[in-house]
Amino acid sequence: MTSAPTTAASLQPGTVTLRIDQQTVHAQEGETIFKAAQRHGIDIPHLCFKDGFRPDGNCRACVVEIAGERTLAPSCCRTATAGLEVLVNSPRARKSQQMVLEMLLSDMPDVGHKWLEDGVGQHGELSDWAQRLDVQVRPALQALRRTQPAADVSHPAMAVNLDACIQCNRCVRACREEQVNDVIGYAHRGAHSAIVFDLDDAMGSSCCVACGECVQACPTGALMPKSQMGSQVVDKQVDSVCPFCGVGCLLTYNVKDNRIVSVDGRDGPANHQRLCVKGRFGFDYAHSPQRLTVPLIRKAGVPKDPAAIAQLNRDSADWSAVFRQASWDEALALAAGQLTHLRDTHGHKALAGFGSAKGSNEEAYLFQKLVRTGFGSNNVDHCTRLCHASSVAALLEGVGSAAVSNQVNDVAHAELIFVIGSNPTANHPVAATWMKNAAKRGAKIVLADPRVTDIGKHAWRTLPFKPDTDVAMLNALIHTVIDEGLVNQDFIRDRANNFEALKQNVQGYSPEAMAPICGIPAATLREVARAFATAKSAMVLWGMGVSQHVHGTDNARCLIALVSVTGQIGKPGSGLHPLRGQNNVQGASDAGLIPMMYPNYQRVSNAAAHAWFEKFWDTPLDNQPGYTVVEIMHKALADDSDPHKVRGMYIMGENPAMSDPDLNHARHALASLEHLVVQDIFMTETAWLADVVLPATAWPEKTGTVTNTDRMVQLGQQAIDPPGQAQPDLWIIQQIAQRMGPHASALREAQPHASALRGSLPPEGASPALGRPGGGRALACGYAGPQSGVAEVYEEMRQAMHGVIAGISWERLQRESSVTYPCLSESDPGEPTVFTQHFDTDDGRVHLVPADIIPANERPDADYPFVLITGRQLEHWHTGSMTRRSGVLHAIEPTATASMCGADLLTLGLNAGDVVTLASRRGQVSLRVRRDDGTPIGSVFMPFAYYEAAANLMTNAALDPFGKIPEFKYCAVAVRAGGELPHNAGFFSRDRVGRVALAAPPSKGVAQA
Ligand code: SF4
Ligand code: SF4
Ligand code: FES
Repeated sequence: MTSAPTTAASLQPGTVTLRIDQQTVHAQEGETIFKAAQRHGIDIPHLCFKDGFRPDGNCRACVVEIAGERTLAPSCCRTATAGLEVLVNSPRARKSQQMVLEMLLSDMPDVGHKWLEDGVGQHGELSDWAQRLDVQVRPALQALRRTQPAADVSHPAMAVNLDACIQCNRCVRACREEQVNDVIGYAHRGAHSAIVFDLDDAMGSSCCVACGECVQACPTGALMPKSQMGSQVVDKQVDSVCPFCGVGCLLTYNVKDNRIVSVDGRDGPANHQRLCVKGRFGFDYAHSPQRLTVPLIRKAGVPKDPAAIAQLNRDSADWSAVFRQASWDEALALAAGQLTHLRDTHGHKALAGFGSAKGSNEEAYLFQKLVRTGFGSNNVDHCTRLCHASSVAALLEGVGSAAVSNQVNDVAHAELIFVIGSNPTANHPVAATWMKNAAKRGAKIVLADPRVTDIGKHAWRTLPFKPDTDVAMLNALIHTVIDEGLVNQDFIRDRANNFEALKQNVQGYSPEAMAPICGIPAATLREVARAFATAKSAMVLWGMGVSQHVHGTDNARCLIALVSVTGQIGKPGSGLHPLRGQNNVQGASDAGLIPMMYPNYQRVSNAAAHAWFEKFWDTPLDNQPGYTVVEIMHKALADDSDPHKVRGMYIMGENPAMSDPDLNHARHALASLEHLVVQDIFMTETAWLADVVLPATAWPEKTGTVTNTDRMVQLGQQAIDPPGQAQPDLWIIQQIAQRMGPHASALREAQPHASALRGSLPPEGASPALGRPGGGRALACGYAGPQSGVAEVYEEMRQAMHGVIAGISWERLQRESSVTYPCLSESDPGEPTVFTQHFDTDDGRVHLVPADIIPANERPDADYPFVLITGRQLEHWHTGSMTRRSGVLHAIEPTATASMCGADLLTLGLNAGDVVTLASRRGQVSLRVRRDDGTPIGSVFMPFAYYEAAANLMTNAALDPFGKIPEFKYCAVAVRAGGELPHNAGFFSRDRVGRVALAAPPSKGVAQA
C-alpha cells in the first residue's frame, strides 16, 4: 500500500514524447498509446476498452503497428514510451482492425437490440466502428454463426440478449471492478464461453442489485435497459442530477415525446458515470398517472380525519370525495389569504413552514425567505431535522462548519475507512462503490454498526455493537489511543482545545470496562483503535445510525474527538464525512431552511447577521430561533392560550404525516391546523389533511441547483414539461409571497438593536466583494427571467451565502455543472478538503467536547422486548412517494418487510415470509418478516417507505437536546406472530406501469429472505 499523498504536486505525472501517425504526441507517464492518441484527436477503433475501466485487451480491435516491432500491439493496454513511432492507419494495422470487426459482426443476430436511424447500426459501437472502417461481412463467415442463445428477460429493468455478446468483458469489469457487486462472471470454455449471473442463474433471480452499470458498459446491446430496446433515437438528452440520495450523481435524461425513456450516468465528480438502481431506473415516477395536475381545495364540511390516514390506500384512493378542483387564482388566493389572516390575527408565531430537501437550493432559499419576511418568524425547517441535525450541531460546535471535511471519493487516499451507523450500499450506493474500490486496493474498512450490512463483506473488522451504545464504544477507542500513547501530540498542541477534559472523561471508558456494555471484545476495540491511530490516513463516514438518537450529538462529538486525538483530519484521505441523506439536504440547510440560522449558518440571534439580513431583504426580522419539525407539531396541538400556538402551515414537498416520529401524534397535529397548504407532486398522506393542495413540478421538470454531501453545487436542467396545470415550485412560492406581502412592521420596534446595527457589520465570514446589504429583494418582488427567475434567485442567494459560494456564478454552473465550495472567486477551483490549516471555529482550533453515556429514551422491557431500528433500503427512498411509483423499483421491492435474524425467528417460532405484528406504545403495523442475519438479536429493522406499514407509527418522538432530532433508531416494540395485512395495499394494482416494460417480477420480497 502506498501512503496518502501530502501535496497535489506529488500526484502530477511526468510526460513522454512519441509519434502517432506522423504526429508528435505528448503522453503522460504511464499513459497508454490509446489514451494519448485520444487526447490528440486520433481515433482508434476499440470495443473492449471503455473510459474509466481497466484495459483488458481482449478484443484486439485497437491494434496498432509500432516501428521496429514484429507483432501488432493493442493500443489500449500498451504504455506509451518515449520515442515510439506508432501507426494506427497503416495497411497492416487497418487490415487487422477490420478483420476483428468483421469476425465479431459475422456472429451477430440479423436484428440487433440498439440502433440509431432506421435500423442502421444494429449493434451499437460494433456497427459504428464497422461502418467507419468500411467493413462488410463475407457470407462465408456469416454462415459459421454460432447458435444464438435465447434472450433472458427475467429482470424487471434489464434484458439480456447474449446473441449480441462479443465477450468484451466490459460488463464483468463494470460489475466486479467498478461497482464491486460481483454478480457477473465469465464462465465455460471455448465456443461455450459466456457471461453468467451468479452460478449461471437467470438475471432476475441472481443477486444483481440493478445498478445498471453493465447495460451502460455494454457496447452492442447484449445488455439493455428494457425501456430503451431498439431505436436509440431520442428527441433530446438533458443533463441533470439524480433526485434521490445525497451522493449527487450527475446523469443525463434521454427524452422522447416529453417522456424520459432512459438515464445515463454522467462523468460527474461524485459518480464518474456510475449510478445505482434508483438513479438509473427510478425515473418514471415523474410520469405517474397519480401526479397532481390541478389545484385542489378541501370541500366545505369534509372533516380532517387523522385516523383515516392509516387506512388510506395510496394507489386507489380517490381525492374527489374530499377535494374539488380549483383555478390557480382561487387556490392561491385561499392559500395565501388564510395564512395572512392567521398571521395578522394571531401574530407572527402562528405560522410555520416546512420546505424540502428534495427541492432545489433556489426553492429552499426562497421558501425560508418567505417564512422569515412574510410569515414573520423563523418557524421554518425541513427533514434535515430528521436526519443529521445532531451531526450538524456537533460539527458546528467542534469544527465550526456543518459540512464534510473530505469528499467521499477521498477514501481512495485512505488507509483505513471507519464506517459507522451507515448502510452505504443501500443508502449511498455509488459512495459505497468508492469504499469497495478502496478495499480492493488494500484499504481497511471498519464497519461499526449494530446491523452487519453488505459493506461488512468488504470490511477488515466489523464492530456490531449493541444498539444505543455508540458513546461507550467510541470512548473506548479514544481511551485506547490515549492510554497506549498513540495521541498525535503535534495536532493536539497546535490545533485542538479541551484535550485535558476529554482525556479525563475517557479515563473510565477502557475497552475492558466498555466491552460488556457495547458487546465488542476489548481486544478488538484496542486493535481497531491502534489501526485507526497508526494509519497514515483514516476517514470516518457516518449515517443516521449515529445521528438519530437522543445522544446523536454526543455520538458525533466522539467521532470529532477520535479524528482529533489521532490527527486524522485536515489532509487527503483523513477526515469527517456525515453522509447526507436526501439529494439536497446539504443545500437546503446551507440556504437557511432551518429555524435557528439564516443562509450560510448565520445565527438568527447574532445581532450582526440579523441586521445584515434585515437590510438585505428590506424587512424587519425575528431574532429568536424558530421551532423545529417536531416542536412545530407540538405547537400545533398547544393550548389556544399559547401565543406561540401554530395555527397555519405551508408545507412544500415534505410528507411529515409519514416521516415524522409517532405518526398518530403528528397526523393529529396536522389535522388540527386551522389552515394547511401543501405543495407537492403527489397526494401524500400530508396532502390528505390539507385545505389547499397545489400541484408542483418533479425534479426533471425544472432547472435548479442542488448541493450534494460533498459540498458540490450542481446544476440540473429541465428535461420534460410538467403535467396538466402543475407549476414550478419557485413560481408557486412567489405567488404566495406576492399575495401575502411582508409581515407587520411592528417587529422592528420590538428589537431595538436591529436598526442600530443595520449595515454596520457583515455576517460572519462575509467577503466584501459580494457582501452588500440591500442586494436582495423585498418579499413582494417577483424574479425575472426564464424558469420562474431561477438564475436571479440563485444570484441573490449567492450574495447571501457569499462566504462560501461567491465564486460559483450561475454562468459558471452552466459551464461546469458542478463546483465544490468553499469557492470564493471565479478562478477558485473549490476546496475538496478543508481544515488543512485551521478550523472554522472562532479561534481556528477544534473544540473537543467530552461525552458520557446517555441511555435511549425508551428501553425494551417485558411488554416491548425488542428494539426497533428504522431506515431506508436500496430501492425505496424516504416515504416512498416517488420510488414506490417507479415500475422497476416497485417490481424489485413491492412490499413492506421487517427484518429479523434467524435466531430470533426461531425463538418466536416464525418462518421468513410469515405475517407479524409489531407494536410499540404508540402504534402498530402488520407486515411480513424476512430473515436477515445481519440484524442483531433482539432487534427488528424496518424501512419507513411503506404507507401500508408505516414504521413511524411506532417510533419515539424523544429529541436529542442539541440537534432536536428524534430517536428514530431506537424504540421498544413487541413482535407477535400473525396480524392482518392491509387489503390490496401497494402500487400498480392497475395497469399503471407506463412505458417501462415489466417482465414477471422476481420479487426479492420474502422469497429470498
Ligand atoms: S454482455 Fe455486453 S458488455 Fe458483457 S461481455 Fe457481452 S458485449 Fe461485452
Ligand atoms: S447513489 Fe444516490 S445520487 Fe447516485 S444514482 Fe443512486 S440514489 Fe442517485
Ligand atoms: S479495445 Fe484494445 S483490445 Fe479491445
